[in-house]
Amino acid sequence: SPFDLLITNADVVTASDRFSTDIGIRDGKIVALGRHLGEAGRTVDASGLLTLPGGVDAHCHLDQPMEFGLRMADDFTSGTRSAACGGTTTVIPFAAQMKGQSLRAAVEDYHRRAEGKACVDYAFHMIVSDPTPRVLSEELPALIREGYTSFKIYMTYDDLKLNDRQILEVLDVARREGALVMVHAENSDCISWLTDRLVAEGNTAPRYHAVSRPQAVEREATHRAITFSELVDVPILIVHVSGSEAIEQIRWAHGRGQRIYAETCPQYLYLTAEDLGHEGYEGAKCVCSPPPRDQQNQEAVWRALAHNVFSVFSSDHAPFSYDDAQGKKLNGKEQKFQYIPNGIPGLETRLPLLFSGGVASGRISLHQFVALTSTQPAKLYGLYPRKGSIMIGADADIALWDRDLEVRISNDRLHHAVDYTPYEGRTVTGWPVMTFSRGRLVSQDFEFLGRAGEGEFMPCGQPIL
Ligand code: URP
Ligand code: ZN
Ligand code: ZN
Ligand code: ZN
Repeated sequence: SPFDLLITNADVVTASDRFSTDIGIRDGKIVALGRHLGEAGRTVDASGLLTLPGGVDAHCHLDQPMEFGLRMADDFTSGTRSAACGGTTTVIPFAAQMKGQSLRAAVEDYHRRAEGKACVDYAFHMIVSDPTPRVLSEELPALIREGYTSFKIYMTYDDLKLNDRQILEVLDVARREGALVMVHAENSDCISWLTDRLVAEGNTAPRYHAVSRPQAVEREATHRAITFSELVDVPILIVHVSGSEAIEQIRWAHGRGQRIYAETCPQYLYLTAEDLGHEGYEGAKCVCSPPPRDQQNQEAVWRALAHNVFSVFSSDHAPFSYDDAQGKKLNGKEQKFQYIPNGIPGLETRLPLLFSGGVASGRISLHQFVALTSTQPAKLYGLYPRKGSIMIGADADIALWDRDLEVRISNDRLHHAVDYTPYEGRTVTGWPVMTFSRGRLVSQDFEFLGRAGEGEFMPCGQPIL
């Protein structure tokens, strides 16, 4: 038969269009759209469901070694399994350079971590933490040309941060090579000064993590990054924007005609700083940076999503287990807030949370949902048109959504290797009930059906801005 798989009666929604069609799939690609396409090895009737492009999660951390001997709970198998069960068919985790390490060695290290283990397709962003003359003049330009066309830089964290001069120098390489730089914008000295003051006063519980990183700290760094982008004349993308003050800076830059892209994440829509203050030590489960703010800021992030201030909606999945003596309670002891590893899990819940609060609640359109979670990240990071839409020639990465299904989120039903979800007990409306990665059914009804090693590495093309 001409097709390996035929999805019939599909109600397809892309970032721009909606149409009814059958979808013919052969060798992992979409090869036909239309009616009465003919015979197929397998037919799936998508009546009553929404047919969306598989999600592209362009910000997640998998198998990254950390400071203090910490390990992430998810490797490339458990992380991508979880992604697949949440409707995500492409992940772009990080190949993080350690200070003193060559950038190429970092990229090779992460390839070894991923090789034969991923269940869905993946690419890499680099993290540049040590921009030596050799990195700036040789390694970074060469790696960008080889398909690592985006990289993240940090303005905070001692083991990762760049100073202002270094930031200007890496931005200049990005301008020359056409790479997209993702910026973690928080002011490091403000955080360490606030942290020391809190600790000196005996304020070490998890909730003080949020107090040590107020919005002013994020606002200032966001403004500084925007200024550097202007001086170097290169677009940048501000990652994990948490609330109204950073949003104001981004809107200000847009008003001046600057090419500033921005990302936000589910935690800034669903959590608040109060979640860090839960009884006992539970607040550690919601420690991430920037920290979640308050309800008014959640509303500001929703409004900015609706008004297209953001281009990308990612999980920032950073999987640390709560109880395994390596995560939030290192060596069985409750850590002071400044030692709690930053980050929360979210690969599997990213799409349902945005669908439920965004589409089902009428705050954003279905087209915006697809754009934010799939099409725009694919374009910005050079994976489009292979990923990010449903069209002839694209990979058959497709999620069939039951838009009315009510699901109570519970960690028992998730597929990551983390021992909690910060969204435990919340009910969402809408869930991807079947997910195809290059035409292979990788999840159905909360069951993982894929296999480790079926996901392929993809070099990235030039960002489409
Ligand atoms: O708290 C966070 N976001 N941890 C993950 C690392 C990062 O900065 O994205
Ligand atoms: Zn970050
Ligand atoms: Zn507006
Ligand atoms: Zn991150």
